[in-house]
Amino acid sequence: MINREIHFAQRPSPQPNDDCFKLVESQLSEELEEGQVLIKNLWMSVDPYMRPRMNDVKSYIPPFQLDHVLEGGAIGVVMQSKNPKLAVGTHVESMNGWREYFVSNGKGLGIRDTSNIAPQDYIGILGMPGITAYVGTKVLGEAKAGETVYVSGAGGAVGTLVCQIAKALGCTVVGSAGSDEKVDWLLNTAKIDAAFNYKTTDDFAGKLAELCPKGIHLFFDNVGGSQLDGALLNMRKNGRAILCGTIEDYNEAPEKRHGITNMFKVVTLGVTVKGFVVLDYMAEYHQAFIEDMANWRAEGKIVWQETVFEGIAKAPEAFLGLFSGANLGKMLVKLADS
Ligand SMILES: NC(=O)c1ccc[n+]([C@@H]2O[C@H](COP(=O)([O-])OP(=O)(O)OC[C@H]3O[C@@H](n4cnc5c(N)ncnc54)[C@H](OP(=O)(O)O)[C@@H]3O)[C@@H](O)[C@H]2O)c1
Repeated sequence: MINREIHFAQRPSPQPNDDCFKLVESQLSEELEEGQVLIKNLWMSVDPYMRPRMNDVKSYIPPFQLDHVLEGGAIGVVMQSKNPKLAVGTHVESMNGWREYFVSNGKGLGIRDTSNIAPQDYIGILGMPGITAYVGTKVLGEAKAGETVYVSGAGGAVGTLVCQIAKALGCTVVGSAGSDEKVDWLLNTAKIDAAFNYKTTDDFAGKLAELCPKGIHLFFDNVGGSQLDGALLNMRKNGRAILCGTIEDYNEAPEKRHGITNMFKVVTLGVTVKGFVVLDYMAEYHQAFIEDMANWRAEGKIVWQETVFEGIAKAPEAFLGLFSGANLGKMLVKLADS
């Protein structure tokens, strides 16, 4: 059978573009060995963390290898099986995204129950973005009722959930995002207290001062750079800043990245700054996350939003769209119906 997959063709320098990707067709043998399964991917995730993985530098996760198929979260279905633990029709989550089909010996596959849950939820609201928002807001951020929470990157996968988790915990929530459509969604669908378009705001720090008159108790930062710098000017005494990502800098050469000029505010206000990588917290908090999220959803407190591109050939465009703000909520690529 024909399999199509996306290979990593060229490292970004530093802006990623179409030349970084190559669509490759190959023949996949359907002759399985004992223990093997043939998986058809239904959905794959594109995520900002994939951009730093395109640099040839040491980090918490190894860099992507040139001329190899890319990797990332995916949910698929078993099409053929010679593995007694993985019957045909079973849905499985893997890190084998960026391809339509693959053969596996079963290692690294997580069986997922899709009887009452949409398959793509496992790589979205119930997956990495969901638990990232949960850990950063509730566990590390310790968001409490009555506090003011400011969320940068509020219109994305993590950000939309942070906003709504903080609302569910009784906070006053302010978000920034890069389009009026996202601002409208945050105000009228997620129903947070205030939101603004940072791209059309001249005085970013001044806008935050206006929208957070009592100062920011908890800042959940998805963006870093200039937005982190501006938020530091508006923190409350003993405020907390949870650093989740620095997407403003992912496509910048090191010497072009936005330096932080307001660090003295961290000193004078006694701000606690905590960065985190969700992988370090998944095992400990997964159960609590699933239970809290189920309750919040049952109470109607969480709306989940997706932006979907169709077909493996569109995966690079979906990925690149993360850096132009093309997604409202979680950016996903749908590869097959069933
Ligand atoms: N620490 C962890 O374990 C962890 C886990 C997951 C994600 N993250 C991080 O969390 C952040 C959000 O991830 P996500 O998966 O939810 O992505 P996302 O927010 O759904 O998508 C990325 C968004 O970032 C914004 N953006 C892109 N370039 C920007 C720039 N130069 N300046 C300001 N905003 C920019 C865009 O929205 P606008 O329209 O608003 O510009 C875009 O839609 C990322 O920084 C990611 O690396 C960290």
